[in-house]
Amino acid sequence: MAQLWGGRFTKETDQLVYRFNASISFDRKLFAQDVEGSMAHVRMLAKQGILIEEETTRILEGLRGILTDVESGKLEITDEYEDIHSFVEANLIDRIGDAGKKLHTGRSRNDQVALDMKLYTRQEVLEIDGLLEALLEALLSLMENNLETYMPGFTHLQKAQPITLAHHLGAYFEMFKRDRQRLGDIYKRMNYCPLGAGALAGTTYPLDRSYTAQLLDFDGPTLNSMDSVADRDYLIELLSAMATIMMHLSRFCEEIIIWNSNEYRFVELDDAYSTGSSIMPQKKNPDIAELVRGKTGRVYGALISILTTMKGIPLAYNKDMQEDKELTFDAIDTTKGCIALFTGMLETMKFRPAVMRESAMKGFTNATDAADYLVNHGVPFRDAHSIIGELVLYCIDRDKAIDALSLEELKAISPVFEQDIYDAVSLETCVNKRTTIGAPGPAAMKEVIRINREYLMEGKRDE
Ligand code: ARG
Repeated sequence: MAQLWGGRFTKETDQLVYRFNASISFDRKLFAQDVEGSMAHVRMLAKQGILIEEETTRILEGLRGILTDVESGKLEITDEYEDIHSFVEANLIDRIGDAGKKLHTGRSRNDQVALDMKLYTRQEVLEIDGLLEALLEALLSLMENNLETYMPGFTHLQKAQPITLAHHLGAYFEMFKRDRQRLGDIYKRMNYCPLGAGALAGTTYPLDRSYTAQLLDFDGPTLNSMDSVADRDYLIELLSAMATIMMHLSRFCEEIIIWNSNEYRFVELDDAYSTGSSIMPQKKNPDIAELVRGKTGRVYGALISILTTMKGIPLAYNKDMQEDKELTFDAIDTTKGCIALFTGMLETMKFRPAVMRESAMKGFTNATDAADYLVNHGVPFRDAHSIIGELVLYCIDRDKAIDALSLEELKAISPVFEQDIYDAVSLETCVNKRTTIGAPGPAAMKEVIRINREYLMEGKRDE
């Protein structure tokens, strides 16, 4: 057992208690951040004359040595330390002796762990953002190539009006774009450095917190030492943003699972992204899409878990907060893995435009346009709605589409119909006439794609 606080104790910690309390098994993930934060802290102590140059050099060299040795595998992070902070400090003292004992001057593990977790999270926010950016690139290229790939749009999972594949994918483009904006907001709000808050009440050393913040690329120091060590809002915000990303992925996966079913056949998943059945030789299952959908629950769970953990914790640091780590790490890894796999699945998936088109032709997706035709010929909308309802019923009885009826049949239902009805309710017309911004008509879609192409080229996550 290697711990930093034996002085006021007369008894050894109970073994079970020690293990229950220890966090090294998971906070080892914060190793690089712990060293980075310690280096900045030491540089600041030196600048303020709290450490002399020789001590500073030795500590920095020692920390650098620990970093390289762990990275090369020469030094192992083992469970004999209570947490990652103890591991780094104990190893530093082993290496350089007494000077190492000065590392923790003007610092507490409370502000230290708050810093480590922020450094870790900040980097992960950028990585998740990069994965979303790649997904948006994949979506936008698909959109550019499918401006005239017609398919049915649904409400209540019932065919509603014809749209294009570009338009359908564009809906997800907007969702993932908002997800990136959320990450950008989180980054901005969290980017203040808690180091120097001490245990809860700052320190009596003349620390330059702005300098530490600057060394670690923060926008400044946090402004209340109690809040600095007790704040986990940024984790809650990130978990909430990740829960939303997973919700979006899950909806998309659900659609892909439906589109990939034998009944729809709108898409075919690549062999590399599907799995077989151990008993049914004909099967090719959309397991990846199902797993992404399933893992959404895990990320939601992490969000609810941390919200519940944080509820009712009095100021300032309390050990409950150690529970923030495992679930956040798991949720981050899960979300990253899901975005990457989903992008691969999307890029390798084959769409079947002919099947989609056929499906859009059936199911009366042009009924609204047929009603609009009557309205344009002077029939009040409510009457038009009722006439087309009657027409649809007539078609259902004969298993025919509206545009498969003869003009005589149409005229028998309403004398207003003329030859131009066929053009008015064709799939192309139904879609292409919808040209207001945000609508599926290719003209409107081209403008949206132009705006989104520009957005991706600017490479900004938060606009
Ligand atoms: N392992 C602890 C955590 O993750 C580090 C902070 C310990 N502070 C303390 N006062 N025991 O929260």
